[in-house]
Amino acid sequence: MSTTPKETRTHRVTLIQGDGIGPEVTESALRVLEAAGVTMEWDSVEAGADVVQKYGTPVPEGVLDSIRKTRVALKGPIGTPVGGGFRSANVTLRQSLGLFASVRPVKNVPGVATPFDGVDLVVVRENTEGLYSGLEHQVAPGIVESLKIVTEAASLRIAEYAFQLARREGRGEVCTVHKANILKLSDGLFLECARRVAKGYPDIAYREIIVDNCAMQLVKDPGQFQVLLLENLYGDILSDLCAGLVGGLGVVPGANVGEDISVFEAVHGSAPDIAGKGLANPIAVILSAVMMLRHLEEADAAGAIERAVFQALTEPDNHTGDLGGRAGTEKMTRAVIERLE
Ligand code: NAI
Repeated sequence: MSTTPKETRTHRVTLIQGDGIGPEVTESALRVLEAAGVTMEWDSVEAGADVVQKYGTPVPEGVLDSIRKTRVALKGPIGTPVGGGFRSANVTLRQSLGLFASVRPVKNVPGVATPFDGVDLVVVRENTEGLYSGLEHQVAPGIVESLKIVTEAASLRIAEYAFQLARREGRGEVCTVHKANILKLSDGLFLECARRVAKGYPDIAYREIIVDNCAMQLVKDPGQFQVLLLENLYGDILSDLCAGLVGGLGVVPGANVGEDISVFEAVHGSAPDIAGKGLANPIAVILSAVMMLRHLEEADAAGAIERAVFQALTEPDNHTGDLGGRAGTEKMTRAVIERLE
């Protein structure tokens, strides 16, 4: 049932269980990692809406300190109140730790029927600026202004990341998604930076697409895309759309990546509607842990868990409600653990 890594190394990793279904799905991932024989030393820290009363903030300084030390974190979803209150804990984490790239591989998984085969793309989203800069103010009663910040430095950095990822993963094309026909300066700068970086990668094809057309193309023929490069808001919206192409938020992993810090987390949120009921699909967090293992150079364990996940998913009996099944978190978790070689 368990695999033995070639050499036994202990990885010190920060663990944030998060809000809502976070504790249920991260617990499931921890059990799978343990069953796979990976030696982890978790530095468990509290963050999220539920800890605001205790610490006065959803992201206590201890959380940032821990991640700065371990440089790797596995994170459950964190809820953000709509409207007033605290700034999003997720945005705070990304900006404080310089996690400039959100990376979401979107691929068909065996056993989950969708209208599309052959989806295999990576969403690379700029994570630190755009409309998420937090610069909003009331100009006058009844009029508010939100500022979209685009800098040359951040745009070049994310474009470089997308092309490097394409080269590393053998993906033949990067496609920049934009609205520079309307946002001529801000999206115009993002596009110009992507074009400059593309010139340094003659081995990788480059194209551009306007965001609304991209949304339509994704739901008509998603197999045409390999790497999507987007600014923050378009990336946020289209990455959920992409998750929907392969079975939904419950099966898509993700990572937020900086120069030397990476935080691995599912695409989905805290799902308050099903929290505490044992119904959540743990696969997205388990596959995020697989991405984390690859980052930690534990390729064998990562491969073993991924195969076990795919085998478990081929049996509809193990499917949770989001996949149209009747299983709960526990049954799905056990199904994965039982299939570990
Ligand atoms: P959500 O992703 O939490 O839920 C959307 C729908 O998908 C709900 O019907 C939910 O039950 C379902 N769902 C999500 N994950 C699931 C899973 N693993 N298994 C089965 N069903 C699942 O999105 P929503 O409702 O927009 O956001 C809820 C809270 O989560 C908000 O406070 C939001 O700010 C936060 N959020 C946090 C994220 C993060 O920490 N990375 C990402 C997205 C949202």
